[in-house]
Amino acid sequence: MGFLKAKGVVYKPVDLVDLGPDSDEVYLQANVKAPRMAGLLVKVFAWFLESPIIGGILLYFLKRNNLIHKLVSFVELQEPPLFEPLHPYKGSEETEVKCVEAALPPPEKVQHAVDCLQYAEDVSESPKPSFQRWTILDYSRSYTSGEITPLMVADRFIAAVRESSSPSLQMSFFINFSVEDIIRQATESTLRYEQGKPLSVLDGVPIAVKDEIDCMPYPTTGGTKWLHKVRQCTEDACCVMRLRLCGAIIVGKTNMHELGAGISGINPHYGYACVSLSKPLGIHIIQVKLREDLPVDLLPVVAAGLCPVALGIDGGGSVRLPAALCGVVGLKPTSGRVPHNGVLPLNYTVGMVGVLAATVEDSLIAYAAMSGNLPSDPSSMTMPEVCLPLLKSANYMSFNIKMARSGKWFDDCTDEIRVCCSHAIAKLSDKYGWETVEVTIPEIEVMRLAHYLTIGSECSNSIAVHQEKNLDKMGWDVRVGLSVYGAFDSKEYLNAQRIRNRQLQFHNKIFSKADVIVTPTTGVTAYTIKDDALKTGELDYINGAALVRYQIAGNFLGLPAVTVPVGYDKSGLPIGLQFIGKPWSESLLIHVASAMQALCTSEYKRPEVYYDILAK
Ligand SMILES: *[C@@H]1O[C@H](CO)[C@@H](O)[C@H](O)[C@H]1NC(C)=O
Ligand SMILES: *[C@@H]1O[C@H](CO)[C@@H](O)[C@H](O)[C@H]1NC(C)=O
Repeated sequence: MGFLKAKGVVYKPVDLVDLGPDSDEVYLQANVKAPRMAGLLVKVFAWFLESPIIGGILLYFLKRNNLIHKLVSFVELQEPPLFEPLHPYKGSEETEVKCVEAALPPPEKVQHAVDCLQYAEDVSESPKPSFQRWTILDYSRSYTSGEITPLMVADRFIAAVRESSSPSLQMSFFINFSVEDIIRQATESTLRYEQGKPLSVLDGVPIAVKDEIDCMPYPTTGGTKWLHKVRQCTEDACCVMRLRLCGAIIVGKTNMHELGAGISGINPHYGYACVSLSKPLGIHIIQVKLREDLPVDLLPVVAAGLCPVALGIDGGGSVRLPAALCGVVGLKPTSGRVPHNGVLPLNYTVGMVGVLAATVEDSLIAYAAMSGNLPSDPSSMTMPEVCLPLLKSANYMSFNIKMARSGKWFDDCTDEIRVCCSHAIAKLSDKYGWETVEVTIPEIEVMRLAHYLTIGSECSNSIAVHQEKNLDKMGWDVRVGLSVYGAFDSKEYLNAQRIRNRQLQFHNKIFSKADVIVTPTTGVTAYTIKDDALKTGELDYINGAALVRYQIAGNFLGLPAVTVPVGYDKSGLPIGLQFIGKPWSESLLIHVASAMQALCTSEYKRPEVYYDILAK
């Protein structure tokens, strides 16, 4: 098919690319050439893709029409490949932080985090929040004062989950949760409070874990009907074990897109992560507004108040996206900060453990409990210390943060998101005097394609030996995904890793001029899942591209990133603002996020479905 061969781009050397605001680098909008599909169409499409000859031809045109050939497959690049985004630790330059050794026991790290929060607590001038979810410290105070016990909370939690999965609500928050196991943990925790010996502020706090992280006594299904049969879960993942050491009650495995190979969160085997109230026939994703549907994996448990913290894996935004769409905080630390042991190895160079939390402070506590690489981890020569921010809003003035904004990219979202996010940045400038630095981050769309190719190759490779035997147990949309993933070749994979290296160089240059990069978290707010998608899942690459538009650097380059809720669109759906930081700069990011949160809390709204677990 030589005559069809698309010409590849010849990329300029990095040093010749202008990263200034007036750069003549073209901003290429995602040009997705794949219609939305659902129902029978997905089945037929999957079937064609899986047939040898027609499949090969279809895949060729899919890659070509979606610019993969032009921007990745046949390009000329000078950079050598970078296979994993690991960053050397050069010591912390941060101020207003408390740095502790990575090897400290988790409950001690948590105590340090709580000490850091004491400062934030006495900020009296900030306006009263109009709505606030219960935080970890609320739980801990109520337990310590004896107002309520972990066992009572466990009972309320179980009742709420039962209610949410009742026929009238039909929200499949959990793939699996064991009443017996929750009660056992809650009983032990209650006893510790009775003896006046809680393990940490996390003692008795319910935490949900996405079903791709090992957590006893549950099998790890990855949203499938077969993965747990070929891969046994025999012990807790490192991050789960650390939370348990702090006394957290692990309340179950949350629902997810099968294999994480999509973002709608519709799971034909386990139901929908979230579902409608108002229209019994249309799936409507749980949301602040609970009327619209939202494409997501894990979100609802935190948004709906069932627990203040949940763990997910962010491989292409799967922590930050649901957080933003649901109006909660999402923190994805630097690659290597939280050990990956005990996490499904579906896409290990881009997927990282992350936290969804009710507030920035809660994300800090969970982060402190889980972070610290293992001595056996080769990812960093020098073990990074864990630096925790001394949150004190009076100090934000003195930070003098420079926020890099890449105009055309930033603006590539809906009008409402653009206005809301720009307004939030203006508030930071007005209130704290922080500066916006206009820059150009080039080749964003190229990076999205290179990341897609990488995550797809890794996913395909990791399940290759099981794929054929289990094909009939997989959802149709996942089968389409796997066909596409399996079509990438070694040349394309290597070029994607060269692009990874190139982008990291661009980002390092931007970070020499600014402390953080600021973007909207998503290009669109939550959209409605249509009825026809329920059985087969749906393929909606256009909305998909708009959702992940701002996510990729966090995963592909392993940079830390955080999303904070900053407002709502006209129909009441939440909007998030994202800050991306330099490697290992979580404490600065948490500072920035907390400064942003302080200016927005007065506008937070209560979701329509909300379980007031600690209510008196
Ligand atoms: C749920 O977990 C229990 C163990 O607690 C296990 O026996 C059961 O098979 C799991 N169910 C599903 C659907 O994974
Ligand atoms: C990558 O793997 C993780 C699970 O480890 C999952 O959450 C994520 O969605 C996956 N993404 C893709 C595109 O495979």
